[in-house]
Amino acid sequence: MRILGIESSCDDTAAAVLEGGTVRSNIISSQHDLHDEYGGVVPELASRDHQRLIVPVVQKALSDAEVRADTLDAVAVTYGPGLPGSLLVGVSFAKAFARGLDVPLIGVNHLEGHLYSGDLAPPVPPRPYLCLIVSGGHTELVHVGDHFSHSVLGRTRDDAAGEAFDKIAQLFGLGYPGGPEIDQYAADGDSTFHDFPRTQLEDFDFSFSGLKTSVLYYLRDFSDDERERVLDTHRDDLCASVQAAIVDVLVDAVRRAADETEAEHVAVVGGVAANRELRHRVDAAGEEDGFEVYVPARSYCMDNAAMIAKAGELHLAAGDEHPSTLDVTPQLKLG
Ligand code: KG4
Ligand code: ZN
Repeated sequence: MRILGIESSCDDTAAAVLEGGTVRSNIISSQHDLHDEYGGVVPELASRDHQRLIVPVVQKALSDAEVRADTLDAVAVTYGPGLPGSLLVGVSFAKAFARGLDVPLIGVNHLEGHLYSGDLAPPVPPRPYLCLIVSGGHTELVHVGDHFSHSVLGRTRDDAAGEAFDKIAQLFGLGYPGGPEIDQYAADGDSTFHDFPRTQLEDFDFSFSGLKTSVLYYLRDFSDDERERVLDTHRDDLCASVQAAIVDVLVDAVRRAADETEAEHVAVVGGVAANRELRHRVDAAGEEDGFEVYVPARSYCMDNAAMIAKAGELHLAAGDEHPSTLDVTPQLKLG
């Protein structure tokens, strides 16, 4: 089974070929430089850039995999959640491509792509497992069973964890996306430098907007000169303090949820799973509490099309496919 996966839900244009469960190619063209000067994704620009990139990215995925388009067995594409204009480019292309090749079209929920990204390479998390999806757009804690049975235990009520990293990085004068930069600076910082708030909700929901506001107020209370000096001399300490606040909340929720669901296996996926402190702390929690931790390779954690092809492969095996009337669903949720 040879599947072409396509992903264009936010600011990455991506295509991948999956054959018999093995990733033959995984091409990601990121628009980070395009959005950097605005400090976040500009939907109009994103959509336009997807239009420019979709054909060359798919061509490169096919040529790197050394397969001809007419040997594909199916086309899988993200149809939500995401930015409407961005999703439209991938879905329109995939519909036309699948129709032209006369192969099945499979619409994939981007979040299912993240959920099953751990299946792309060993060690694969055995079902059932607890999955923390942490990305720029999503923070969800999901119990994953067999045959697409998942139940969402909690999700963010406002900002996603990656969004919090990005917005706070902007307040610190760092570039976009800010998560990797905070991770970098934090490595040399003192996480006890400032005690930023940890919002713990009763259930497994998350809220990161209070943290963002608290950083804003913290910086606002300095004079301009003082602020510049603090940012210059304590950027690493501030990054470590903010990172600790975010990671504490995430790890605490994972531990509570793992305990409540008696999870033996825990996967952490999505762009923020690249964060070294988060990986370290979840690993340590797993050792202490007795669950196995799975974090996919970085290229499968960030938005990519291999995970979309994988979810597509699982759906195809289950007999699911979509008609060519498939439309984008920007607010799509995990069922
Ligand atoms: O999964 P992803 O590539 O795209 C979305 O679905 O959003 O995740 C991107 C997010 C960004 O917010 C970025 O700042 C964050 O992942 N990120 C990190 C790190 N690497 C990427 N956040 C913290 N530490 C990192 N090392
Ligand atoms: Zn994502």
